[in-house]
Amino acid sequence: MIRFEDRLSKTVASVMGLALLSGPGCLTGVGTADDDTGTDTDVSENLEGMCSGEPAPNANYFIREGFVEVAPGAECPDAATVALKLHGCDFDEWQDITCDFQRVDRDQVLVDNGYGGYFADAATAPGDTGMYAVGPLTDVCYYEGVFWDDPDVSTTCGRPLLRDGEAVIAPVTGRPDWTAAAHPVVVDLTAEERKAASEYWLECAVLEHASVASFAHFSMDLLRLGAPPSLLRDAHQAGLDEIEHARLCFALASGYAGKPLGPGPLDVHGPANKSMVDIAEALFREGCVGETLAAVDAAARLAVARDGAVREALTVILRDESAHAALAWRALRWILQSDVDGAVRTRLEAVFAEEAARWSAPVDASTLSPALGAHGLIGESARARELRRAWDDVIAPSWAALS
Ligand SMILES: [Fe+2]
Ligand SMILES: [Fe+2]
Repeated sequence: MIRFEDRLSKTVASVMGLALLSGPGCLTGVGTADDDTGTDTDVSENLEGMCSGEPAPNANYFIREGFVEVAPGAECPDAATVALKLHGCDFDEWQDITCDFQRVDRDQVLVDNGYGGYFADAATAPGDTGMYAVGPLTDVCYYEGVFWDDPDVSTTCGRPLLRDGEAVIAPVTGRPDWTAAAHPVVVDLTAEERKAASEYWLECAVLEHASVASFAHFSMDLLRLGAPPSLLRDAHQAGLDEIEHARLCFALASGYAGKPLGPGPLDVHGPANKSMVDIAEALFREGCVGETLAAVDAAARLAVARDGAVREALTVILRDESAHAALAWRALRWILQSDVDGAVRTRLEAVFAEEAARWSAPVDASTLSPALGAHGLIGESARARELRRAWDDVIAPSWAALS
C-alpha cells in the first residue's frame, strides 16, 4: 500500500515541477539541467547597476536581502566588504555584489529546524529541544545584494477552525507581539501591490491563528475518545506549530502593511461533547482535507516565491502542514478501527462526496500582478488547479485506501 506521506511528497514535488531529493533536512528538488556555474553564462551586463535600480539582465537575477553575523554589540561592516549569506535551504547564489545596508537585528539566535534554519529573538526563540537546535547569541546585519536563482533548482495556509461549515477567525488589531522576525523586501512593490500582499498574508495569519484552536479542540476530542499518547503528543505539537505559522504570517502582513498587526480575541466556542461521528467529520474536513490542501497550497506558492522571508515562512509551513495532514490521516485510521456499526464511515462517505464537489468546482480565471508571485501570491485559477491535483492524487486515493 502507498503511504499517505509518499503520495503527498510526490504531489508536492509535482506541483513545484521538481523531482524530490531524499535525505534529511531541506525539502529540495532539481530539474534536469546539471549546470552548476552559479550564474547565467550568456549574460555580460553590469550587474552592479542593479543596486542603483537598473534592470536585471534576465529574470534569474534579482535584488534581495542576505545577511552576515557579527559579535553581539559589534558594528555592521561596510557593505563593500560584506560577503552575503542566506539560510541553508536557500539556493539563490550571491553574485559578489552587496548593495546597501538595511538594518541590524540584535540579540538573535539561529534556530535550526532542519530546513535551513532562521534567526529569532533570543528572548522568544523556541527552546533547544530534540526538534530545534538553537545557536549562540549573535547580531545579524542585513544588506541587499544581487543574487542569481538557478531556474532548475528550487526549495520548498492552515487547518481551518470550522463552525457550521464556516471558518472562524479572530479580528485583526494593531499589536507587535505576534510578529516573527521575518522582513519581506518591499521596495520593488507598488503601494497597491503592497496592500494586496498585506491582505493576503493577513488572511493566512488569521487562519493560522485559528488553527491553534482547531488543534486544541482536536486534542480534547482525542482525549474523549481515549486516544494513544502518540496522537495526543503530535496534536499538541501541531498546535505549537500553528502559533509559529501565525507569527510568520503576521510578520509578513505587518512588513507589507508597514505597521504591526496581530489577532484580537478569538471566539473559540464549540460543542463540549461531540459524538465520535462528529469528531471524525471535523477531523476529515479540517485535517485530512484542510491540511493536505494547505501543504500543496504552500508548495504552489513556494514554487514561485522569491522573497527570502516569504520563502522561509512557506518552507516551515509546507513541512509542518505535511506532518499535520499525515497526523490527521493516522488519527482517522485509528478512529475507524472503533467504528463497529459503520456510522463514522457512512457519515464520511457523504462528507467525501460533498468535499469532492467543492474542490472540482470551476474557478473564474483571475489576473494578478506578476511581481506578487515573488511574495507568495498566486492566481485563484492556478491555485484551484493545484488543489484539484491534491484532491485527485492524494486525498481521494488515501480515503479509498481506508475503505
Ligand atoms: Fe499552519
Ligand atoms: Fe496545520
